[in-house]
Amino acid sequence: MKILRTIYFAFKSLYLILLGRKIDHIDYQEEYDEVAPTYHIWLNKMQKYTDEILKLDLFKKEEKFTFLDFACGTGYITEQLLSSLTNPNISVFSIDISEKMINKAQERITDSRCNFLIQDGLDFLKKEESNKYDAIFCGYALPYFDHKKVIYHFNRILKENGTIHLILNCKGTLQGVHKIVMETMKEFPSYIEKLMDIVIKLPKNEKNFESWFRKYNFESIFLKTVNEVVFFSTPEGLYNWLKDTGAIAGTGKMFRDSKEIDNAVIEKIKKILYKDNKFAINHKFIQGIFRKS
Ligand SMILES: C[S@@+](CC[C@H](N)C(=O)[O-])C[C@H]1O[C@@H](n2cnc3c(N)ncnc32)[C@H](O)[C@@H]1O
Repeated sequence: MKILRTIYFAFKSLYLILLGRKIDHIDYQEEYDEVAPTYHIWLNKMQKYTDEILKLDLFKKEEKFTFLDFACGTGYITEQLLSSLTNPNISVFSIDISEKMINKAQERITDSRCNFLIQDGLDFLKKEESNKYDAIFCGYALPYFDHKKVIYHFNRILKENGTIHLILNCKGTLQGVHKIVMETMKEFPSYIEKLMDIVIKLPKNEKNFESWFRKYNFESIFLKTVNEVVFFSTPEGLYNWLKDTGAIAGTGKMFRDSKEIDNAVIEKIKKILYKDNKFAINHKFIQGIFRKS
């Protein structure tokens, strides 16, 4: 029976590859529309790490700047920029594909120096004029894109000496989750609707990440890797955290909606993510700031 399911899984995967059925920007948009009401749970834990890449001391309070908050979500970075830099001539362009995430940002941010846009990030970048921005910020979003295309445009739209500030997941994040997803796919091949390639889009390590920017002669001015572990008393608590924070955004579109999939995932969390009487999940990420020279 297991052998038959494995063969079915192999053929189903091949079929989906041939049809090009993989998670795309519309799937992420729909997933983040759902995450919007609970995304603050992620920020509560992780915003302290985003603060480290803002490096607001790089920007003199009295000067005029144009900033881009790329894939701004509920606007955490935008809000920090606006509240710490008081110059009335500052402009922040905050763009995201999810209307619900942007709506959450707009509930709090009414500063007229900010321009919110609901659009696919790459479509936005393609139309932006060259040498416009003093700094570009991108929090936990780069792996949703083809990084080569995005960095090409970041370089193009950034002024000389401008900076790019990033925080993003890297290889080794959410250890065990990939295994759980693969095992669930093998167990329920008929439920698979789309494949997902985000794991192969993550940088391997700092060196690999830095190499993405070397092509354009960016100077790296800050680079750090962090591994944060979050503990839960129940497997359901861990699973809900993964879903509510957007940490596994996209996976909800991989399978036909079903209680059986949820139950199977919870059973696997019990086995794979159980450690020292608790359920644990790690979040490994790289923080980086690069200057255009
Ligand atoms: C983990 S959230 C990060 C939000 C925010 N940058 C932060 O640091 O809190 C990822 C964001 O990327 C956005 N996103 C994903 N794909 C996108 C795309 N193709 N274009 C624009 N935004 C996208 C999602 O809608 C979501 O708001």
